Amino acid sequence: MTYLLALDQGTSSSRSIVFDRDGHIVAMAQREFRQIFPQPGWVEHDPEEIWQSQLATAQQALAQAGLTAKDIKAIGITNQRETTVVWNRRTGQPVHNAIVWQDRRGEPLCAQLRAQGHAETIRQSTGLVVDAYFSATKIRWILDHASGAHIAAAQGELAFGTVDSWLLWKLTNGRVHATDVSNAARTMLFDIRHNTWDHELLKVLHVPDSLLPQVHPSSHVFGETDAAHFGGAIPIAGIAGDQQSALFGQACFSAGLAKNTYGTGCFMLMHTGEKFQVSANGLITTSAAQPSNKPEFAFEGSVFIGGAVVQWLRDGLNAIKASGEVQALAESVPDSGGVMVVPAFTGLGAPYWDANARGTITGLTRGSTMAHIARAALESIAFQSAALLQAMSRDAQAAGGAAVAELRVDGGACVNNLLMQFQADLLGIPVVRPQVVETTALGAAYLAGLATGVYAGLEELSALWQVERRFHPTLPRERAAELMARWERAVRQSTVA
Ligand code: G3P
Repeated sequence: MTYLLALDQGTSSSRSIVFDRDGHIVAMAQREFRQIFPQPGWVEHDPEEIWQSQLATAQQALAQAGLTAKDIKAIGITNQRETTVVWNRRTGQPVHNAIVWQDRRGEPLCAQLRAQGHAETIRQSTGLVVDAYFSATKIRWILDHASGAHIAAAQGELAFGTVDSWLLWKLTNGRVHATDVSNAARTMLFDIRHNTWDHELLKVLHVPDSLLPQVHPSSHVFGETDAAHFGGAIPIAGIAGDQQSALFGQACFSAGLAKNTYGTGCFMLMHTGEKFQVSANGLITTSAAQPSNKPEFAFEGSVFIGGAVVQWLRDGLNAIKASGEVQALAESVPDSGGVMVVPAFTGLGAPYWDANARGTITGLTRGSTMAHIARAALESIAFQSAALLQAMSRDAQAAGGAAVAELRVDGGACVNNLLMQFQADLLGIPVVRPQVVETTALGAAYLAGLATGVYAGLEELSALWQVERRFHPTLPRERAAELMARWERAVRQSTVA
């Protein structure tokens, strides 16, 4: 039997999954690690904890499966993106905690970049809007604040990496400092049209070239694990940022194929083929996971509060005791009775981009109950996702492509049938749930398997992707349009709040 090991390093936990050749899960281990909040708006992780938790779960998953290093054909890494680690090349010691993607401390520098008129060049090269979310200003902050970092960086002693690079460095015992295009694309320093670091931007941000990892396609033999970690060397042959990895694991390999991951937030990505396009509808352009040297792109939009709205029902409103109860409460009423919840707790992301918007409930009547609010809260996940998909379809059609024909779904909340059916009803296209919903890890395993000859090509992977359930739209289109219009009205109310 051939096995692949996926390391899925997420924001709140490290997970490792052993897959067989057909993409079935053989063993899985997970470990949480500390979230560090030094001050409001700042989020850090300890890079050593990231590494130790990841290594422990990988060893545990192998033990659970009864496998050893020689049984594993290759490792694929997928990771929380943008999170920034800077370490000393000689000692291997991080010079600061990792600055996490959610951390906002880079905002003043972003404001400066915008004021200096760099926004458009950054967008045309990196596909991104200038934002503290991406790695560039986090790197700058570490160089400016970690003791001795300026001088060490100038002398070529430091290395920067997103979490994949850091794990690769640790797995190879400092022999390999590299990343893949889909992670490089999240730094705001990488020219995604040509797959090279953008030297102009590096100058603007005063980031020395010597800090940067080498960039390879996502499917590539990056190196081998040091024998000490797993009792033998295993090739590391796939790397992709978690959202691009999920797009790959959903077999979305060509223009027009889209996936939505329903987690704490939602991340929707649509493959847009080999032509670089900038969105006219508030989306960002990013590199898709790339099996070869050929650039491939995706549009991306995110919903900040997705499944987190269920946590709010549980912890904020005490409407339910456990998250799993939400479907029953929402189903206890036939519809939301005209109630709309806009969970703009931290502002609104694409396509609205309103940092000042705040959560709003509209349409309350004397007859409204907690069940209506729960249903509306659940539906808000689908409304926000529908607005993203509409924006993507508009962009795709403006570029001469077709509208999205179906939406592939994964992530924790995709098990909620009520939500998936409502999503299909709003979109007017089928919502498709695959048999393996661990698509993030699966994507990394596939990328590693492709580079090591486990799979012959993408057709074979497409054939492995199997549907578990297809949710067909049943709502008349006029009714769906009315609901979307009501949603947009509620959004407008949240933005004036
Ligand atoms: O861009 C951030 C994203 O990659 C984080 O994903 O699943 O770790 O929350 P997750």
